[in-house]
Amino acid sequence: MVTHKKPTWWKVGVIYQVYPRSFQDTNEDGVGDLSGIVSRLDYLEWLGIDAIWISPFYPSPMEDFGYDITDYTGLDPVFGELPDFDALVAEAHRRSIRVILDFVPNHTSHLHPWFVESRSARESEKRNWYIWQDPKPDGSPPNNWRGQADPDTEGSAWAFDEFTGQYYLANFSPSQPELNWRNTEVREAMMDAMRFWLDRDADGFRVDMVDFLGKDPDFRDESPLAEGKTPRDYLVEARYQLNRPETLDYIREMKRILDQYPDRVLIGEVIYFLPVERMAAYYGEGDLLDLPTNFRFTFLPPEAPVLRRFVDDYDAALREHGAWPNHCLGNHDSPRVSRHGEETSRLLAMMLLTLRGTPFVYYGDEIGMPNVKVLPDKRQDGWDYIGRDPARTPMQWDASPNAGFCHEHAEPWLPVSDEFEKDNVESQRSDSRSMLALYRRLLGLRRAEQALSLGDYEAMEDAPERCFAYRRQYEGRRLLVALNFSGEAIRLTLAGCTDAKILLSTYLNRDGETGAETLELRPFEGIVAEVPDMNPNETEV
Ligand code: BGC
Repeated sequence: MVTHKKPTWWKVGVIYQVYPRSFQDTNEDGVGDLSGIVSRLDYLEWLGIDAIWISPFYPSPMEDFGYDITDYTGLDPVFGELPDFDALVAEAHRRSIRVILDFVPNHTSHLHPWFVESRSARESEKRNWYIWQDPKPDGSPPNNWRGQADPDTEGSAWAFDEFTGQYYLANFSPSQPELNWRNTEVREAMMDAMRFWLDRDADGFRVDMVDFLGKDPDFRDESPLAEGKTPRDYLVEARYQLNRPETLDYIREMKRILDQYPDRVLIGEVIYFLPVERMAAYYGEGDLLDLPTNFRFTFLPPEAPVLRRFVDDYDAALREHGAWPNHCLGNHDSPRVSRHGEETSRLLAMMLLTLRGTPFVYYGDEIGMPNVKVLPDKRQDGWDYIGRDPARTPMQWDASPNAGFCHEHAEPWLPVSDEFEKDNVESQRSDSRSMLALYRRLLGLRRAEQALSLGDYEAMEDAPERCFAYRRQYEGRRLLVALNFSGEAIRLTLAGCTDAKILLSTYLNRDGETGAETLELRPFEGIVAEVPDMNPNETEV
C-alpha cells in the first residue's frame, strides 16, 4: 500500500496578510487591534484561507508603523496586550487558521533601549550591538553605501551621531539603526525572541529584509552606480551592504530554532527584483528559508507573455532545487492590484490562486479595495516617494459609518475609501458574481483540487499570444487554467480533448459548460477547466 505523507500546510495553504492597524478596531481609537482580528476570524474561515501573517504589532514609536521595534517580546498597547495575542492564536487555531508573525531583526527603533544604551557612549556595553564607524577624515560617511528609505536619492545609509562623533548604519531611516548580527549576543537575543513567540504557539515568521542582515566586516565601498544602471540594479549587485554569504548562516541559525518546533514556517523577505537563481539560493538544502518572498506580480505588467516568461523561469529554477514557489499580487509596501482595473484584477486573482506555489493574499484585495487617495494632511507614511498609505486604508466591512472598521465616533487613522458603501464585504457576500465571490470560489477550488495546490505546472505552448494558459496535473487529474489578457474573444485549441468541463470562470457564470477540442474565452476572461484527455505539449511527448 502506498502511504501518502500529509503535505506541509504552508505548501497547500493560502496565507492572508493582515495589516493590523487597518483590519478591525475594537477600542474606538481608530486603529485596528488584535481583538479586532479575533472578531473577524469567522469571516476568514468562511473565506477559506489557511493562515494569517500579521504585520508587526510590537511596541514601536510607529515611525515606520511597527517596522521599528522597541521590544521584541511585547505588544504595542495600541494593539492590545499579551493575553490578546494568546486569545488570537487560540481562536485562530480553533478554526484551523495558522498565525505567522512579522519579525524585524535587521534593525530596531532608535528608541529601543538597546540603541539608547549603545549611543550613550563609545564604551557602552551595547555599543557593539549596532554598527558604528568613524567618519572619513573629511567628516563624510565611512563608505558609499546608499540609503534605502528613498533609493532614488543619493542619500547615505549612515546617520551621524553628534554625541559620540561616529556614524551608525541605518539603511532605511536614521530612526531604524541596524543591529550587528556579527555579535553573538545580538543573535542570541533574536533567537530568544523567536523562541518566545514559538512557545506561545506562533506558527512561524515572515522575516523582514532578511537579505540585509550580514554586512561586510571591512565596510568596503560598493561599485558606484554605473551609467544606465538603476537603484534596483544596485540592490541586486551589491556585495558588501547586503546579499552577504554570512546572511545564510544567520538564516540557518533561525531555521534551527524553528525546527525545534513542529510544523513551523520560515518566510523571508528578499529584495523585489532578485534574479530567480538568486531567490533559489535562499532555500539552501532545505536548511534556510521555506519561502523567500517573490514579489514579481506586484510590479510586472499584466501581459500574458511577460507573466508566462517569469513563471516559466521561476518554476523551472525552483524545481531544479526541489524548492517551493510563492506568489503575491500586493502587500503593504506596494500599490494595490486593483490599479489594473476589475477585469484584470480578476484574471490576476485566478492566476495567483491556481499557480504552483503558496499564494499570499493581501487583506482587502478579495473585495477589490482601491488605492485610496490620501490628502496631504491625512498622510501617515514617511516613505513619501512610494506613498504606501493608499494601500493601507481600513478594511471595508459594511456600509455603516467608517465601513464597520471602527466606531462611528472614532476617526480612522487613514481615511476609508469613498467607495465603501458600494464595495464592502457585506455587499459582496450577497452578490454571487462579486470579486469576493470569485476569491471564495478560487480558494475553495484550490483546497478541493490537489492538482491546483500540489500539481505540476506546464505552460501551454500553443495558446494565443495574449492568453496565459497552463496545465496543472496531479496523480492523473489534469486541469487547465486559461487567462485571456486581451479585450478580444479568443478560441483555445485543446489538442485531443473531447471532454473539457469548465469549473470556474472569472465572470462566475459558466460553471459546468463543456467543450471538445476548443474552448472560447470572452474578453478578459479566465477559466479553470477539467481537461482529462488533453494531450501534453508536443515538445514533451
Ligand atoms: C517592510 C516595510 C518597512 C521596511 C523597513 C520592509 O520590507 O515591509 O514596510 O518599511 O522593511 O523595515
